[in-house]
Amino acid sequence: MKNFLLACLLTGSAFTLFTPVAFAQQSGMPIPGQEPVLTSICMTCHGAYGQGNPVVGGPRLAGMQAWYLKNQLESFRNGWRGMEKDYLPAYEMRETASALTETDINQLMVMLEAWDAEPAPDTITGDVSKGAELYQQCVACHGADAMGNELLAAPALAGQNDWYLLSQLKLFKSGYRGSHPEDIFGLRMQVVLPLLNNEQDMQDVLAYINSID
Ligand code: HEC
Ligand code: HEC
Repeated sequence: MKNFLLACLLTGSAFTLFTPVAFAQQSGMPIPGQEPVLTSICMTCHGAYGQGNPVVGGPRLAGMQAWYLKNQLESFRNGWRGMEKDYLPAYEMRETASALTETDINQLMVMLEAWDAEPAPDTITGDVSKGAELYQQCVACHGADAMGNELLAAPALAGQNDWYLLSQLKLFKSGYRGSHPEDIFGLRMQVVLPLLNNEQDMQDVLAYINSID
C-alpha cells in the first residue's frame, strides 16, 4: 500500500488515488468491467451512464465522438472555455479538466466511446420549417444528418442533449465560448452567429435537429 501511495504521488494523476485498479490502468487499456471506477468523478455531473445531467448542466458524453470530447477537454485546459467565474458550470468543468493527465484523458476517451448511447430525449420545441431553413447554413460543417465532420472539427449535434446545445449557442453568442483568438475550432462558429438573432432562432434550429436525429 505504501508503494502504491508513493506511485500515486509520483505519477501525480487525479485518479490514481481512487483504487489500485485505476493505478493498474495507468499503463494500459481499461480493464473490462472496471470502467466506472475511473469515470466516477465524471458521473456526478454527466450522469451515471454519461447521459448528461440537466441539473448541473453537464452534457451527454456517452456515444459522443471521442475526438471532439478530447478537443473540448483541451479547450478547457487551455482556458478557452470556462474562464468566466459568473458561469460556474463551465468554470468547474475547467478545474476538473486541469487536474487530468494526458494518460487520464486518453483512457477516459476509450471508455466514454464504449458507453452505450441511448438517444437523448427531446426537450425543445420550435418552428421546424424555419429551423430547417436556418440549418442549411450549418450543413457545410455539421453535415446534413447532423453527425458532424471530424476533418472540420465540427461535432455531431444529433444525439446530444438539446438543452445543452441551446446553452452552448447562447455561450457562443455571448462570447463566453469560441472567441479566444487561439481557439481556432471554436472561432469557426462565428460565421453563423449573426443568423441566430434570438433564443427563438436557436430553438427553431434545434427543433429541426431533433426532427432528423
Ligand atoms: C462539477 C461538475 C463536473 C464534473 C465533475 C465533470 N464535468 Fe464535464 N462538464 C460539466 C459541465 C457543466 C459542462 C458544460 C460546460 C458548459 O456549459 O460550457 C461540462 C462539459 C464537458 C465536456 C465538453 C462536452 C461538449 O460536448 O462540449 C467534456 C468533454 C467533459 N465535460 C468531460 C468530463 C470528464 C471526462 C469528466 C471526468 C473526468 C468531467 N467532465 C467531470 C461539469 C462537470
Ligand atoms: C464553419 C463551420 C461551422 C458552421 C457553418 C457551423 N458550425 Fe457549429 N461548430 C463548428 C465547430 C468547429 C464546432 C466545435 C467548436 C469547438 O471545438 O469548440 C462547433 C460547435 C457547435 C456547437 C457546440 C456543440 C457541443 O456539443 O458543444 C453547436 C451547438 C453548434 N456548433 C451548432 C451550430 C449550428 C446550429 C449551426 C448553424 C446555424 C452551426 N453550428 C454552424 C463549426 C461550424
